[in-house]
Amino acid sequence: MKKLIIANWKMNPGSQRDASRLAHFVGRGLRKAKNVEIVLAPPFVYLPLLSNFKLPTSNFKLGAQDTFWEKGGAYTGEISALQLKASGVKLVIVGHSERRALGESNEVVHKKLNAALGGGLKAVLCVGEKEKEREIVFPKIIRDELHEGLRKIKKSLIKNLIIAYEPVWAIGTGKADTPKDVYEMSILLRRELYKMFGKKIASKVPILYGGSVTAENAAEFVGRGMVDGLLVGGASLNAKSFVKIVEEVGAT
Ligand code: PGA
Repeated sequence: MKKLIIANWKMNPGSQRDASRLAHFVGRGLRKAKNVEIVLAPPFVYLPLLSNFKLPTSNFKLGAQDTFWEKGGAYTGEISALQLKASGVKLVIVGHSERRALGESNEVVHKKLNAALGGGLKAVLCVGEKEKEREIVFPKIIRDELHEGLRKIKKSLIKNLIIAYEPVWAIGTGKADTPKDVYEMSILLRRELYKMFGKKIASKVPILYGGSVTAENAAEFVGRGMVDGLLVGGASLNAKSFVKIVEEVGAT
């Protein structure tokens, strides 16, 4: 199976010009990327720009960083999964820790996930523990995020689900997790998914790692860490670094 690499640009870059430069250099560097599927998830305002960009569609897909659970109506500032789909988006990130830090609960994450999957998008559910919880309660935190995010989601929609394990303490800190711990965590996640959806369905759900991924450590996570791909923040804003990450993963 192709590895999945998602570039989460977060609230960057600052202008259309810089966004198109970044997309241009990433696209140029990865014209011939092999064994990988790449998703660029820019801020909403750059989605039209990127969807008109000449990125080789066989390798690149458009992603979004969030969505809302209603289909349309009087919801100032929100964007629905249907609107994303109509804008060429194929995948949406849900429950990123930076959104949870702004107050997004497991209940809200669940509604967004359900709307995204029900609207025909692929959805990445982000889960991860904060540093202080790691030794004591982290399996419980992760289990709760997983179970509450996924409860009552129709089994038929799980084919479009992706899980990203992103320990909060590793995001944007330069302190990535170890491939060994990521491997153990992915087993724990997989086991929970089995319980919820049965082995046949759950074994197909890709599990990604995110948190200070760089060109230097990327291959280790898909190698020894055995994950199905990566969610890349900071390093995706530098075309050279991101191209290198994709190349390293493609070569594993
Ligand atoms: P980072 O971000 O690569 O900058 O740590 C990852 C993420 O937030 O998804």
